Amino acid sequence: MRGIILSGGSGTRLRPLTKITSKQLLPIYNRPMIYYPLNTLIKAGIKEILIIVSPERAGDYLNLLGSGKEFGVKFTYEIQDKPEGLAQAFIIGENFIDNEDVAMILGDNIFEDDFSEAIKNFKGGAKIFAKHVPDPERFGVVKFGADMKAEKIVEKPQEYLSNYAVTGLYVYDKRIIEVAKNTKPSARGELEITDVNNWYLEKGELDVAMVSGEWLDAGTFDSLLKAQNFAKEKLDGKMLI
Ligand code: TTP
Repeated sequence: MRGIILSGGSGTRLRPLTKITSKQLLPIYNRPMIYYPLNTLIKAGIKEILIIVSPERAGDYLNLLGSGKEFGVKFTYEIQDKPEGLAQAFIIGENFIDNEDVAMILGDNIFEDDFSEAIKNFKGGAKIFAKHVPDPERFGVVKFGADMKAEKIVEKPQEYLSNYAVTGLYVYDKRIIEVAKNTKPSARGELEITDVNNWYLEKGELDVAMVSGEWLDAGTFDSLLKAQNFAKEKLDGKMLI
């Protein structure tokens, strides 16, 4: 299993904090934000990790993270010229993925759960992780059928579908590269991860697991503050890096 951390983006909701640096380099208690999703991948046993960054900040990431030797893993870097969507990661990462399965995590997502079993037991198709949240309209949302089977994933739905948000960790088999390449940009001009998830869902090959521990996306001032306290109280002693 290969790992990708998507750590580009523009971080507009955190301006002016992100005017001179990348969101995922901001501090979360005593570590840069990206250490948390990196820790999630490393804890899950992933040793080859592609870090996708924006061109403006590439040097900062190299200085901070280097080869990965310090963490017992190997880092590769790629540039995303423009933030054209989460699913673009698989096109940028085509050579890196090299016909293997791949787990992608967002650089601003902080998880308490240990995903090693989920990653170890992955047998193909796609696997995503949902979490019950009070504000699902900010995320991709899982619509369930009568039998609680996932029926559809809807990106930032206008009307209520469920409280289950799709979190920023996704696992795919090697078909993901072609699926991402065949995706058309959405109205907001992005290659949507929700579209690739629905491709697998329509084939009956999307497994939706639940996140049991805390999950935060540190992309707003309030969630950033919450993440700082959560990292201090719950994560600090359990981090591998
Ligand atoms: P978002 O939080 O949706 O976008 P953003 O980070 O640009 O922030 P804002 O909405 O405040 O402008 O992105 C989620 C994560 O994915 C975040 O870690 C940045 C990353 N990302 C990319 O690396 N490339 C992209 O094309 C997009 C859309 C996001």
